Amino acid sequence: MATERTFSIIKPDATRRNLTGAITAKLEEAGLRVVASKRIQMSREQAEGFYGVHRERPFFNDLVTFMISGPVVVQVLEGDNAVARNREVMGATNPANADAGTIRKEFAESIEANSVHGSDSLENAKIEIDFFFKPEEIVG
Ligand code: TYD
Repeated sequence: MATERTFSIIKPDATRRNLTGAITAKLEEAGLRVVASKRIQMSREQAEGFYGVHRERPFFNDLVTFMISGPVVVQVLEGDNAVARNREVMGATNPANADAGTIRKEFAESIEANSVHGSDSLENAKIEIDFFFKPEEIVG
């Protein structure tokens, strides 16, 4: 199996409810290693840039406003098939459709306030990691 790196965000609904540790534990239990982590307050410009692919979607403005409503924890996760493994442990975008035991089933409040972001491909993982981290901030 290939060792990969993926990018994760613990979103404002989760930091507000003090779930950073509980969510990180689920990631670690899934075999992912946190090789970079920082708690930040995203600016509107940063959130708009990060979610640029969704700019034309009806939920874009609300999503950006939500993502800057409080601190987030951005992380780089490393492990075998990290991209797919993280998507599995996150669960479906809408927590109503998420499988039992997933982060979103356990913690998400709604399709918008869904507790975590995770890259959906290895290519996007590289772009998203570069968006938030300098190489020297990642220690494997
Ligand atoms: P998306 O990339 O489709 O989902 P995922 O986070 O599972 O990769 O959407 C990005 C985020 O946009 C999603 O986590 C929450 C928000 N969103 C909404 O608020 N409403 C929606 O109808 C959708 C599809 C997404």
